[in-house]
Amino acid sequence: MRIVDLIAKKQHGEALKTEEIKFMVQGFTTGEIPDYQMSAMLMAIYFKGMNDQERSDLTMSMVESGETIDLSAIHGVKVDKHSTGGVGDTTTLVLAPLVASLGVPIAKMSGRGLGHTGGTIDKLEAIPGFHVELSQEDFIELVNKNKVAVVGQSGNLTPADKKLYALRDVTGTVESIPLIASSIMSKKIAAGADAIVLDVKTGAGAFMKNDEDARELAHAMVKIGNMVGRNTMAVISDMSQPLGYAIGNALEVKEAIDTLNGHGPADLVELCLTLGSQMVHLAGIGNDLAEARDLLEENLHNGKALEKFKVFAASQGGDTAVIDYPEQLPQAAYQIEVKAARDGVVSGIVADELGIAAMMLGAGRATKESKIDLAVGLMLNKKVGDAVKQGESLVTIHSNQTDNSAVEAKIKNSITISDDAQPLPLIHEVITD
Ligand code: URA
Ligand code: CA
Repeated sequence: MRIVDLIAKKQHGEALKTEEIKFMVQGFTTGEIPDYQMSAMLMAIYFKGMNDQERSDLTMSMVESGETIDLSAIHGVKVDKHSTGGVGDTTTLVLAPLVASLGVPIAKMSGRGLGHTGGTIDKLEAIPGFHVELSQEDFIELVNKNKVAVVGQSGNLTPADKKLYALRDVTGTVESIPLIASSIMSKKIAAGADAIVLDVKTGAGAFMKNDEDARELAHAMVKIGNMVGRNTMAVISDMSQPLGYAIGNALEVKEAIDTLNGHGPADLVELCLTLGSQMVHLAGIGNDLAEARDLLEENLHNGKALEKFKVFAASQGGDTAVIDYPEQLPQAAYQIEVKAARDGVVSGIVADELGIAAMMLGAGRATKESKIDLAVGLMLNKKVGDAVKQGESLVTIHSNQTDNSAVEAKIKNSITISDDAQPLPLIHEVITD
């Protein structure tokens, strides 16, 4: 087999066979196939696409390129949730203990990464003492005992994806549905998921800026998952405005605690119940989605979800006093109100702009080396569809710097007030096949 022949084959729009895709991924991972040939192949894929079989072959070849996590010692169906990323997405912090409170095992591997705010691990580290350095044995033992644990990323998972993504980044081939879908799915499968619930975000603050692209990506990932034997479904949810009110690490932990206490923002609660009922249902608990949702709602109000969060945090070294007294979480030195310039109804909050504003305060990493300030961020006081009076606060800035004029200006520019506006629909679609 020669890669140059495979490039020509794809260039002509023909489908690559399973062994051809394996050969290509293996050869590229070991370095036998050079970047210039792989770049040509990626560009051919970008223009000619891949059929369902090729997509699942590419996914599994990337899974097989490195280590995989063996979760077979954990009892029950291991359901993982993946979000395609957004602004102020507090969902994982709520969903992990909430779903675990019904006995569904949540074995979460998480990262730090770049973004507007930190990753799930950074957020959890706002709880003093909380750590994610667990051995594989301790991790599995904790999940069996408490039904929930979070471990930092370790091991050499999907090296082919890392190398391919880096090459795509510099060759104009990131924006290809088969390549994105197989990249995301390979990481979930390597991390040991039996079943996968995908939260595909759509709108200004999302990777997919419109519904059509989000739908295509969701369908592609659901198809791959089901073809390779992992029950997979997707929810398409709005990310034109941020989710919930909090954007920032400690602020989102507090928002998660409020939500687990039964007092969460309506949109965050709704998304958690929608995704959570799918997770519970895939794990085989409850007769149907409606029953799964009822059970979850019950645990948000009877204290069981919050209790699970405490047990989870304590088991990983966290000081649970902050869960009872969230005011003991890291606090910023200054709070500045961004006020409405006129009466009206909030008609737009550009999510990615607010994400950048949070990053300017130090809530997220601009580069891998940046240090996060856990205390800072933004609290939205209004969402799209809310009435507002001139001079009323739209956003509270939590800052540790004295000059916040650039952040303030950015926020003002990203919020529009009109004479009338409707709240935005949150769940756009649920895709199961
Ligand atoms: N996120 C991923 O993990 N992979 C892609 O290809 C794009 C976004
Ligand atoms: Ca939030």
